Amino acid sequence: MIYAANWKMNGNTRLINHMLSEIKLEVIPYISKSSEIILCLPSIFLGGAVISCKNTPIQVGAQDCSSHKDGAYTGEISAAMISDVGSEWLILGHSERRQYHKENNPLLYEKLLLAQAAGLKVIFCVGETYEQYLNGTAKEILVEQLSVLFDPSFINLNFIIAYEPVWAIGTGLVPELEDINLIHQFIKSSIFEKTERKSNVLVLYGGSVSPENVKQIKSLSNVDGVLVGGASLDPEKFKQICL
Ligand code: 13P
Repeated sequence: MIYAANWKMNGNTRLINHMLSEIKLEVIPYISKSSEIILCLPSIFLGGAVISCKNTPIQVGAQDCSSHKDGAYTGEISAAMISDVGSEWLILGHSERRQYHKENNPLLYEKLLLAQAAGLKVIFCVGETYEQYLNGTAKEILVEQLSVLFDPSFINLNFIIAYEPVWAIGTGLVPELEDINLIHQFIKSSIFEKTERKSNVLVLYGGSVSPENVKQIKSLSNVDGVLVGGASLDPEKFKQICL
């Protein structure tokens, strides 16, 4: 199981230290060796977090990168810089980036190329809006969002998918369990059919994951882990989610 936290624009060094000591003492000794914990933090904290996670199984990730390799782009952070400070993971395509920064496939294509060149592992987010869910176009939208990964350039990209229905993010709403499982299956088979990949891609579920609902979500056969927003900012809740 993969337990990924997306802190979005929240937290500070104090919370990071608190979270790390909770995970080290109260989670790692009790979870299976094959479980992975990934903390996706605001970029400014990545270097420090990588140092604090040294010699632990906790991995660190960024939440976005520039679509440019380097140069005169004030305020931007490149994929190579994220990798340079020791961060292994990168979230791309989060619905908040799609919504507030108008991220689309051509832009994400550039970011994916740079992430691949920097050797980062990508958590690629997809998900439909409530309107798309209601009018039955969710699958179409998911394939459209996934299609950037079908490009042969990404045959060797190390990526996993996070299925995050936009209407489930931060709302307390979660799709029916059976629907989550079916959509995950659909995502896996779409990638399998449209690319030359030999192995099944891992798919995380994200959207209002909580200590109360995580056990049922984790028990679904096509769920390989969770991407947690709000509840990952509370060390007690995140601990319960991972255990
Ligand atoms: P919440 O867990 O707060 O719904 O956020 C999910 C999310 O967007 C993770 O990337």
